[in-house]
Amino acid sequence: MTHPSADSHAAAREDLEIDLLLEAIHRRYAYDFRGYARASLRRRLWHRVHGEGLRTLSGLQEQVLHDPACMERVLRDLSINVTEMFRDPSFHRALRERVFPLLRTYPFIRVWNAGCSTGEEIYSLAIALREEGLLERTRLYATDINDAVLVRAKAGSFPLERMQLYTENYLRAGGREAFSSYYAADGDHARFDPALREGIVFAQHNLVTDGSFNEFHLIVCRNVMIYFGLPLQEAVLQLFDESMTRFAVLALGRKESIGRTSHAERYETLDPAEKIFRRRG
Ligand SMILES: C[S@@+](CC[C@H](N)C(=O)[O-])C[C@H]1O[C@@H](n2cnc3c(N)ncnc32)[C@H](O)[C@@H]1O
Repeated sequence: MTHPSADSHAAAREDLEIDLLLEAIHRRYAYDFRGYARASLRRRLWHRVHGEGLRTLSGLQEQVLHDPACMERVLRDLSINVTEMFRDPSFHRALRERVFPLLRTYPFIRVWNAGCSTGEEIYSLAIALREEGLLERTRLYATDINDAVLVRAKAGSFPLERMQLYTENYLRAGGREAFSSYYAADGDHARFDPALREGIVFAQHNLVTDGSFNEFHLIVCRNVMIYFGLPLQEAVLQLFDESMTRFAVLALGRKESIGRTSHAERYETLDPAEKIFRRRG
């Protein structure tokens, strides 16, 4: 049986190794994961330690410092890219019913999808905006920290086997067309109508280290801040604050909120369940 103090020594050493590894990644590659929530970070880093055939987090530090390809693999492990089209259909329905009527009042609309992953979310937004007659006057920005997912997002081609789920999501989200009219089957992939991405700018952007680059009427940032510690959430909300027009809308993921942050008072809640907030001005 291990003595408790041996356990706490091991935990303190592990914490130190993680701190040093994250510092090394930051200084060598300018990716800043230092403020990410620890529990999930620890799990993912250990996954990479084993994946590299190593024994310790310090070993991973050495590997990362000397081998950029290893850094790519770490990046892949740390950026969880799970996503789907019309994910949480009731959220997309709320966007259509409560947010799009607000957007309609602007002659030109700018939307930022931050942490867009492989693009399923931005194509969902484009489809809904098109059905509401808003796509032509909307410029969408889809950004992510991870270049590899952006390549896939730009391609706009998703596994055909996912289409049954996405069709159900689309209909539950208030979709009004035949979902299959938006894509053509190409082998085992569904290639989405290229016209959907004409108004989309895809770009790498790191929410932790990069600044504001425009002012938006709607920011959709779902299932990204869930991986961040509270101080980092505050910093990202500050970035959003600098990137919004007056009365702009901020949409977060189901398990995310602004409630515990100093930004809460700046927003009114449009939909508490769907985590949709509107800036007070
Ligand atoms: C779980 S996915 C969410 C995708 C989509 N928003 C959704 O809800 O389906 C999280 C995404 O956030 C990205 N991400 C993580 N840290 C980031 C950062 N610091 N800046 C920008 N994107 C980040 C990851 O690369 C990943 O693609």
